[in-house]
Amino acid sequence: MYILSKDFPDHVGTEVTIKGWLYNKRSSGPIAFLEMRDGFSWTQAVVAKAGVTTEVWVDVEKVTHESAVEVTGTVSKHLKKAGVFELQVTNFKILQLAEDYPIALKDHGPDFLLENRHLWLRSKRQWAILRLRDAIITGINQYLHQEDFIKVDSPIFTPNACEGTSTLFAVPYFDLGSAYLSQSGQLYIEAAIASIGRCYDFGPVFRAEKSKTKRHLTEFWMMDAEAAFFEHEDNLRVQEGLIRYIVRYCLEHCQEELAALERNIENLKKVDAPFTRYTYEAAIKKLNENGSDIKFGEDLGNDDEGILTKDSDVPVFIEKWPKSIKPFYMKTDPSNPERVFNDDLIAPENGGEIIGGSQREEDVNVLINRIKAEGLNQADYEWYLDIRRYGSVPHSGFGLGLERVVRWISGTEHIRECIPFPRTIGRLRP
Ligand code: 4AD
Repeated sequence: MYILSKDFPDHVGTEVTIKGWLYNKRSSGPIAFLEMRDGFSWTQAVVAKAGVTTEVWVDVEKVTHESAVEVTGTVSKHLKKAGVFELQVTNFKILQLAEDYPIALKDHGPDFLLENRHLWLRSKRQWAILRLRDAIITGINQYLHQEDFIKVDSPIFTPNACEGTSTLFAVPYFDLGSAYLSQSGQLYIEAAIASIGRCYDFGPVFRAEKSKTKRHLTEFWMMDAEAAFFEHEDNLRVQEGLIRYIVRYCLEHCQEELAALERNIENLKKVDAPFTRYTYEAAIKKLNENGSDIKFGEDLGNDDEGILTKDSDVPVFIEKWPKSIKPFYMKTDPSNPERVFNDDLIAPENGGEIIGGSQREEDVNVLINRIKAEGLNQADYEWYLDIRRYGSVPHSGFGLGLERVVRWISGTEHIRECIPFPRTIGRLRP
């Protein structure tokens, strides 16, 4: 019977067949240990020369790394490790004998691995990250639906900027001039909430950012959420609930993956509400007291984020930033017209900024002035201004960078391992 390795617990003592790839092979005289993977887990298949035909043993001896194979055997429990199963092999077939595999089971430099990303994805760490990424996506979808958000897709070709004009990718667009690859679907889901109340989008976004950091990609996945009749505090509450839910979901569903990643799960277990909070002003004060030379009105650097999260087990909100360094759509704080009702959420353990959000300006005239002050072309935003002309309501939302969250929860140093095929300034292949 052909089964997936994840179903071994239901088949102890039975003969089954699994299909997959040979990850590693060790031999000790008349016994061979085949480490196999079928996509669902890693399995040790034990072949005794005396227990198989001569033809099968010849195939076992000649099989190479990453060959596609079919293995039949009896499922047994590992003698020492609870929850681990083995196959006592009765039959073995090579489906395709792999050529010399370029990735050996030793350290390679990052450039070599990135050139071979299509093969590197098969390694255990990358397998774990792919699965964790999927769990994070599932957790996000579940939580938002529980909170009555529904998914509304936003376009990728857009006529105008959402997050400033300096990071736009332009694409020739027939007779209509240039289209720009979306930096965030926010403006579109702001339009959609007037139809359905609460919604989110989830898709690739693009930033022509020249940053060569461990946290920046030129193509990454963003989940933008937006809700009508939500003010600043409601916005923070949902962000906090979402992150707490995602972490718990991963702890519950990704035990094997987190173990493969050697992630300290005790730290993840501490992620609970309430999250730490600083106003931007208080954050600058704390940073200056702790040796940072950041000046009021500047964005936080990596080291600054490190200082602010150092003493916190939970993510840290930095709220109410100076209007002068934030986009046109953020709502001005009426009690301090130089500030906006926004937040950045910084993950602990060097996770960096994982969410950016704000209450949105709902007054059409204030918004027009902000658009002009930023040197944007008002005509491009007339459709967006209509949202304020016809039934404008207080509303808020936020954008979560998926790879940033994967990076933090997986404990991965570089964001390029957190997306299947990374795009950075210097990399477009494979
Ligand atoms: O803070 P950002 O720029 O916010 C927006 O785009 C809003 N329009 C979102 C909204 O309110 N709906 O980006 C949101 C998040 C950041 O917090 C970060 O996690 C991630 O997107 N991000 C990046 N991730 C990888 N590479 C980059 N170059 C990123 N730039 C932002």
